[in-house]
Amino acid sequence: MTIQWFPGHMTRARRQIQDKLKLIDLAVELLDARIPLSSRNPMIDDILLNKPRLIVLGKSDLADPRETEAWIERFKYEGHECIAVDASTGTRVGEIPDLARQLMQEKIDRQLAKGINPRAVRALIVGIPNVGKSTLINRLAGRNIAITGDRPGVTKGQQWIKVGKEMELLDTPGILWPKFDDPIVGYRLAMTGAIKEQILDIEDIAFYATRELINRYWDTLVERYGIEEERPEDTEQADEIVRIMEAIGRKRGCLISGGRVDLEKTSGIILREMRAGKLGRLTLESASTY
Ligand code: G4P
Repeated sequence: MTIQWFPGHMTRARRQIQDKLKLIDLAVELLDARIPLSSRNPMIDDILLNKPRLIVLGKSDLADPRETEAWIERFKYEGHECIAVDASTGTRVGEIPDLARQLMQEKIDRQLAKGINPRAVRALIVGIPNVGKSTLINRLAGRNIAITGDRPGVTKGQQWIKVGKEMELLDTPGILWPKFDDPIVGYRLAMTGAIKEQILDIEDIAFYATRELINRYWDTLVERYGIEEERPEDTEQADEIVRIMEAIGRKRGCLISGGRVDLEKTSGIILREMRAGKLGRLTLESASTY
């Protein structure tokens, strides 16, 4: 699902989340472990205000494990509880209710001291489109729920999904917008499949992807495609990126008349394989440079 975000949509999305915040104890902020910065809503602190928050790094099966650990440390240092999960298989998803309860422990203890039996911790999952909200809700619920996700501006009745005895989840996640002002963010979202290709040119996305791969995962690139090119010294030089893309295209037989490389076809291959994890586990944003 690709949503075109206009100022009115953003205001409504924000209002919808703020309405839901009144119903819950805790927000689960879902980010893509491969791009924890670019998959983050730019106004998240403003929107969630003082609501206790658990940051979940999703799609961690596709991300570089060392980088993911560094991000977890980073978020903890900033005072947030954080966990990395793979919602597609369920790895570590089962730890979320416990963490949610731990975050609410003080309140629970206060209630117990007053003789009140604490109810289940109520939570809302928030995140940008395609970050994996529905997949995570289904994993936590342990069954398949038709999650319509309220498009900005459309409201519907809320239902609570029981997650064991200790947690309840709103069945519709809060959908937030990504950053728009930085074109690199757009390309990173497109590289990971969060933005559909129709919006951005496929060769442009693959160009940026190849540049990131050269900068961060050169050996992986060489190994996957068997290219024999010199590593570009300056990846700000567009020609140098195209040189590597052409080498990949030649290795994969993407040729058009006159022996030229079919860059569109090559771009499709690079992006498909990158998103499918064929180039290994990749993280495009490091906690250390943030
Ligand atoms: P959303 O509700 O936030 O919009 O996202 P959704 O759950 O629909 O997930 C978007 C895509 O991401 C889905 O792929 C889903 O399977 C995948 N996904 C979600 N969590 C994980 C994860 O932890 N690991 C991996 N590897 N994939 C995950 P899809 O159905 O194939 O959609 P698409 O690729 O056709 O867009």
